[in-house]
Amino acid sequence: MPTIRFVREGRDVKCRPGENLRQVALREGLELYGLKGNLGNCGGCGQCITCFVAVIDGSDPQALSPLTDVEKNKLQRRPKNWRLACQTLVNSSVIVLTKPQVPPGNARALINAAKEAELPK
Ligand code: FES
Repeated sequence: MPTIRFVREGRDVKCRPGENLRQVALREGLELYGLKGNLGNCGGCGQCITCFVAVIDGSDPQALSPLTDVEKNKLQRRPKNWRLACQTLVNSSVIVLTKPQVPPGNARALINAAKEAELPK
């Protein structure tokens, strides 16, 4: 089973192969959305652009499903490692940062620590 390492939350969460990243985060009670997304999001339809996650370098490039057409359109001006959680399926273990648009002050340290600890395959 894949493990999703959520850097900000300091949690490793198991999921089924092919499970939707947004659904896993919400099931686990993680804060996927910032203020705008909490006030109103599209419920996973790929329209509100509020469910950003950053895929941390070093993760397997095949760990997540390819960019959807929605993401190709909506993420044009965002960093290349950002995804929309609602459009993303988890194939294998991966490290992600939720709400990368408002990174925690100690983001670099958290990311380094997340990368150092072995990630279950
Ligand atoms: S939940 Fe609206 S774009 Fe992902």
